[in-house]
Amino acid sequence: MARKDLIAGNWKMNATHLEAIQMVQKLGYRLDPGDYDRVDVVVCPPFTALRSVQTVIETDYLRIQLGAQNVFWEPQGAFTGEISAPMLAKLGVKWVVVGHSERRHIFGEDDAMVARKLRAVLANGMTPIVAVGETLEQREAEITEEVIGGQLQGALQGLDAGTVGALVIAYEPVWAIGTGRTASNEQAAEAIGFLRRLVGEGWGEAAAEMVRILYGGSVTPGNIAGLMAKRDIDGALVGGASLDPDKFASIVRYWV
Ligand code: PGA
Repeated sequence: MARKDLIAGNWKMNATHLEAIQMVQKLGYRLDPGDYDRVDVVVCPPFTALRSVQTVIETDYLRIQLGAQNVFWEPQGAFTGEISAPMLAKLGVKWVVVGHSERRHIFGEDDAMVARKLRAVLANGMTPIVAVGETLEQREAEITEEVIGGQLQGALQGLDAGTVGALVIAYEPVWAIGTGRTASNEQAAEAIGFLRRLVGEGWGEAAAEMVRILYGGSVTPGNIAGLMAKRDIDGALVGGASLDPDKFASIVRYWV
């Protein structure tokens, strides 16, 4: 079965809830019903805007899906400042990014923490978008595969094949995030092909055929079509360009 494309906007720490309402409304106007048949369209606003965006999606009957950028692994308790998976699920969140490089590098998240977050997301009926990626130093040292392979194994070990097949992986080279420097289509496809082979080796061919693997890092309306032309690339995780509804809609409609 062909994998459905998925294009997710990671708004990062941008947009007040009022700005977020306008952004999702504009995005809704710019997309056609047929677009959603072809692509799962996801937006990941900051926590403070989730409820407002969810309300717009519901009242305007939009088929945009709601995602979160992060989560804490405990369901509740004395964890000042954290947000749990049950809280997100109750808000209608369907997708949660775990292991984004900004979480790993700015906030010190390691593979064990990413694994715990991923399990909390799954336990609450949402789908993790597991982000992995190497730094420039690691790419230059030619250890990209060890790094991203290790991150993937660290996050996924112990999961069964059906669960792994149903999740989403995002390959995001750190040197391409927010830098305007995209990986070439070949570099992206090569790393994504490697991740898919790893899933095949660990969880079987059916899981490898099913799992969706996105590319992320300076995706724009100008480079999305070339990336999507690669058989192994199933979509994109978009940061900067997702803040502009016109640009994000053109990325979603990459074939137009
Ligand atoms: P960017 O961010 O598109 O701004 O490079 C991608 C990401 O961090 O998910």
